[in-house]
Amino acid sequence: MAAPTTGVAIIGAGLSGLTLALALHRQNIPCILYESREASLDIGGAIMLSPNALKILDALGIYDKIAPLGYHFEELYFHSDDDKPVDTFEFGSQTKHAYKALRIYRYELINVLVSMVRDAGIPVQYNKKFTHVVSSSSSSVTWAFADGSSATAKLLVGADGIHSRVRKHLYPDLVPKFTNMIGVTAVVPREQLQAGPDYPLPVTIMSPKHGAFVIAPQRADGSEVLIGKQRRLQQEYDRAGWDELMENKTWCVDFLREGSADFPPIVANAVTDIPLKGINLWPFYLVPKLDTWAKGRVVILGDAAHAIPPTAGQGVNQAFEDVYTFAGVVARVRDQKQSEDDEQDAVRISKALKNWQLGRQARVDLVLDLNDKLNKRRLPDAVKAGVFEPFDMDWLYGVDFDQMIAEWAS
Ligand SMILES: Cc1cc2nc3c(=O)[nH]c(=O)nc-3n(C[C@H](O)[C@H](O)[C@H](O)COP(=O)(O)OP(=O)(O)OC[C@H]3O[C@@H](n4cnc5c(N)ncnc54)[C@H](O)[C@@H]3O)c2cc1C
Ligand SMILES: *[C@@H]1O[C@H](CO)[C@@H](O)[C@H](O)[C@H]1NC(C)=O
Repeated sequence: MAAPTTGVAIIGAGLSGLTLALALHRQNIPCILYESREASLDIGGAIMLSPNALKILDALGIYDKIAPLGYHFEELYFHSDDDKPVDTFEFGSQTKHAYKALRIYRYELINVLVSMVRDAGIPVQYNKKFTHVVSSSSSSVTWAFADGSSATAKLLVGADGIHSRVRKHLYPDLVPKFTNMIGVTAVVPREQLQAGPDYPLPVTIMSPKHGAFVIAPQRADGSEVLIGKQRRLQQEYDRAGWDELMENKTWCVDFLREGSADFPPIVANAVTDIPLKGINLWPFYLVPKLDTWAKGRVVILGDAAHAIPPTAGQGVNQAFEDVYTFAGVVARVRDQKQSEDDEQDAVRISKALKNWQLGRQARVDLVLDLNDKLNKRRLPDAVKAGVFEPFDMDWLYGVDFDQMIAEWAS
């Protein structure tokens, strides 16, 4: 068997995997990416990035490249079905957290990451589907691909998303759980809203009968808006079934239009003309809380470790926290290396990774608490009762990740 040449092998070249590669490269840790598709997965239009993630992307030299490509804003606004303001949620703040929030198309972020990965000379192999771990020792791990080949590395990281195959090595029977919530989104020109320049956006309008309707500007000039509706759905489909529903544009358009007369006029305007091209359907799944994200030299992170509901908009943002702190912890363990003893090395890395996971899980748990609090504020009775105190978001946006790394790897 060939000696392991790669430090870290990353399964999945999505947002987590690509960013992890750049974070490791910055720490002079050699890595390689394997992606099952012919290109990184580009799902669901644009995403929203908050200061905790933007600080990380800034430290990695990514922020300056993406900032001109997206729409900057600070608050999310919440309205009742008669268009009265009931709540705001701070998604970023220049003065308080050094960054406004940024809404950017996923493919634009991926393009920037892919070109940075290329410039850094980090190898990426596409059409390379991980299937299973073959063997694992205290110093290395070997795994197989669907094409029959195999590879070996010191660490194997599953950044392979909510339906992670790498996770099967840790949890053979685990399947993501449907939350009975779905969202359908589309893209329309902002002018179609016929809303004045002072109408607060992004806005979520809450109807006790029909669920939540979201309108969020995108593109650098905000000339385009995402429109989206979230609602409960009792029935669960398999993957082919969800794909079929998403392809059923009549169903999706009906879903978006349903009940629009009971919303303020901006919603009826938003759904007058819905281009079929930009339609997306997103069934919300979650990964139940996991006891561990590592087994020997196999680690999972991003959606593979903690896919969470989108309420607080932290899915992608938490993934960036994972990868930055993971790379930092691995680098510090290397820097403190005292011997060439594999066994000792394995003990130190697994101790540091345990601290990392507990620390990261604690943050994810706080996000889940925040999701719960936000959901309570969206209940019809709460909406009717009126205006809320804003949340203090410093714990989420204002943290020092380098200090966390130092603590976890000490
Ligand atoms: C429609 C939709 C809209 C969303 N919108 C938002 C949003 O606005 N904001 C937000 O925060 N979150 C959003 N999310 C959630 C967000 O997409 C995830 O949190 C994020 O993509 C997680 O990144 P990841 O890199 O961990 O996983 P992924 O983005 O899923 O990437 C995983 C990568 O691994 C590859 N892969 C999978 N299996 C294998 C294998 N066996 N071998 C090799 N490669 C493999 C995949 O092809 C993919 O490229 C949305 C999700 C969906 C579905
Ligand atoms: C699409 O959805 C519509 C409306 O719900 C339904 O009547 C129709 O049968 C569906 N079409 C297909 C091809 O599934």
